[in-house]
Amino acid sequence: MEWVQSEDGSYTAYSAQYDEHYHSTKDGALNESLKKHIEPAFALHREKEHLKIIDICFGLGFNTLLSLYYRDTYSPETTLEIYSPELDGELVASLVDFPYPEIFEPYRNIITDIATLGGYKDERTQITVEITDARVAMRRLSGIWDVCYQDAFSPSSNPLLWTKEYFADVARLMGNEGVVTTYSIALATRLALYENGLDVYLNVGEGYRSATVASRRPLPAFEKVDMEHKIKCNPSAVPLRDHDLGGN
Ligand SMILES: C[S@@+](CC[C@H](N)C(=O)[O-])C[C@H]1O[C@@H](n2cnc3c(N)ncnc32)[C@H](O)[C@@H]1O
Repeated sequence: MEWVQSEDGSYTAYSAQYDEHYHSTKDGALNESLKKHIEPAFALHREKEHLKIIDICFGLGFNTLLSLYYRDTYSPETTLEIYSPELDGELVASLVDFPYPEIFEPYRNIITDIATLGGYKDERTQITVEITDARVAMRRLSGIWDVCYQDAFSPSSNPLLWTKEYFADVARLMGNEGVVTTYSIALATRLALYENGLDVYLNVGEGYRSATVASRRPLPAFEKVDMEHKIKCNPSAVPLRDHDLGGN
C-alpha cells in the first residue's frame, strides 16, 4: 500500500485495486474525516451520554480514531460504542506502522489492539472491527444506532455499498433519530437515502467540498435538499440497485 501525504499534511493511502485514495487528498484526510463525519455526527447528538456509531468501512481508521479524539477533547463523559466492518484484514493488521497524525498518538495502544485483536474495550469505549463484507454486516446487525459514517470507496468504484437495498439496512439501523454522514453528493446516493425514508441535507463549510447528512428527524442546522424538486428536474435519475449490479 502506498502512503500519500494529503493537503492538510496528514497521510492517507492509495488503493491500486480501486484506483482511489482512502481520503480526499485535496480536503486532507484528517480534515475530511472531521468536517464530513465527526463534527456533524457529534453536533447532532450533543445530548447523548452513550453514542453508538457504525463506521463503514474501517480502512485506515480515521473516523474511529477521530471520534475517540473528539469525544476525549469535547465530551469526555460520553461513552462510545463503535462497530466497523472492513473487508481487508491485511490492511487492518498493517495499521501499527501507519504514519498517523500526531493527535492519534495517545491511541497507539488502541490501534495495536484493533490490528492484533480486532477491537478494544475500556470503561468508556468499545470498538469492534470485524473483517467482513459491510453489506452482510449491515444485514445482520441489530439494534438502533445513532450514527453511520458512510465512507466506502466511491459509488463508481464500489457501487454495491451505495445501493438502495444496502441503504435500506442502514436506514433500519438508524431508527428515527440516527444520522448518516457521507462525502457523496451524487443524486443516486441521495435518492437511495431518500427512498428509504431519510431526509437529505447539505453539509457545506469552509475548507472542504460539500457533503451529505441524512436522517429521519429534522436537522434544522443543515440546509435541507429539496428532493422532490431534484426528482422533477431529473426524471430519469434512479438510485443504484442490487439487481443491476449482481449483488446478493
Ligand atoms: C475509502 S476507504 C475507508 C476509509 C476509512 N473510513 C478511513 O477513515 O480510513 C474504503 C474501505 O472499504 C473497504 N471495503 C471495500 N469493499 C468493502 C466491503 N464490501 N465491505 C467492507 N469493507 C470494504 C476497503 O478495503 C477500504 O478499506
